[in-house]
Amino acid sequence: MDLRDLHVLHWRGAHVAAATAPEPASGQDLWLIDTCQRRVAVVCGAAACAPARGEFPAHGVLETFQGTDAYAFLLRFACGLESKLVAETEIFGQIKQAWRSFSERGSPLSRQLSAWVQLLFQDAKAVRAQYLGNLGSASYGSQVRRLLGDDAAAAAVPAHPTEGATLLIGAGHLAQSVAPWLSGSDLWICNRTVERAWELARELSKRSEDKAVRVIEGGFEAELDAWRRARHVVACIPSDREGDPARVAAWRERTEPGGRVIHLGLGATPTAPWDDLPGVVSLGSLFEMLRSHSQLRARQLQRAQHACLEKALLRSLGANASHPHSWEDLAAFQTL
Ligand SMILES: NC(=O)c1ccc[n+]([C@@H]2O[C@H](COP(=O)([O-])OP(=O)(O)OC[C@H]3O[C@@H](n4cnc5c(N)ncnc54)[C@H](OP(=O)(O)O)[C@@H]3O)[C@@H](O)[C@H]2O)c1
Repeated sequence: MDLRDLHVLHWRGAHVAAATAPEPASGQDLWLIDTCQRRVAVVCGAAACAPARGEFPAHGVLETFQGTDAYAFLLRFACGLESKLVAETEIFGQIKQAWRSFSERGSPLSRQLSAWVQLLFQDAKAVRAQYLGNLGSASYGSQVRRLLGDDAAAAAVPAHPTEGATLLIGAGHLAQSVAPWLSGSDLWICNRTVERAWELARELSKRSEDKAVRVIEGGFEAELDAWRRARHVVACIPSDREGDPARVAAWRERTEPGGRVIHLGLGATPTAPWDDLPGVVSLGSLFEMLRSHSQLRARQLQRAQHACLEKALLRSLGANASHPHSWEDLAAFQTL
């Protein structure tokens, strides 16, 4: 496939993401990547763009990219440069997983894209290593740990074993990426499907044998009891109209002061019943807190953006090119 045939459609908007690599509703052969901040469709050839539009919500702006611009966009996306939490690392895993499940379908498009996607992953790793490696971790987990901060560290040797526990709600993708960062205190994991909580607990124990991890079993009542006794709660589940009022009520019943609720499934602004819980941190407030970038960080990000475009141009000159070919090419780079 020629890079000129690569087309990407991009819709930006907060929404509940579908499963990894959702099946296109139309049955069209396209690679869909759905995250909670955007939906992206990758197709081959301009003719495939019009039907692909049907896969996107009617509201909001739909951007389209072609050829080098499409590759550069995918590279920025994979490097976390399109994310609100700029340079976050989880997105790369999400894209790789979306690719794995799409390519397993073995469709003609997956075969056409395969070589380009391998180059994309290679370039994303190179940009991350060269420009974003020492940026400071920008994962959801690192930000959560920063927010819990000294509080969690101080609670590492609690007077009473339950005083310092952090309760993690959920065992899905986000919970799995956040859990290793919750190192300051005892960790309690509670998930609707308890087997998944056990899987996560086993995985964490493998990584760090001395980490105290407990799985909360006993259904919703046991979860509420844990809300009453934990010092912090980190929720990695979507908002839940039925269960959330009881969760908020349980948190209010605590007798120990302090502690935080960080709810990453709440979207930009906390809605009822979370909105009048003092100090609750939603995904939106987490992004807000991170908006203050240092000058150095901003410069590094700019260089990474530039590198994405430069790599896309190199790829347009030949899939395996890693150096400009001629004086004309060099001149083209100087205009970047
Ligand atoms: N993945 C990310 O990078 C990311 C980033 C920012 C925000 N978020 C948000 O975080 C939330 C979780 O995302 P995810 O990627 O981890 O999804 P996921 O892998 O699909 O996992 C969903 C988790 O939520 C639980 N869950 C779903 N509905 C529930 C309900 N009604 N009551 C109780 N538990 C419920 C699931 O429990 P079961 O195991 O029982 O199904 C599972 O633990 C979503 O709201 C998402 O928008 C995700």
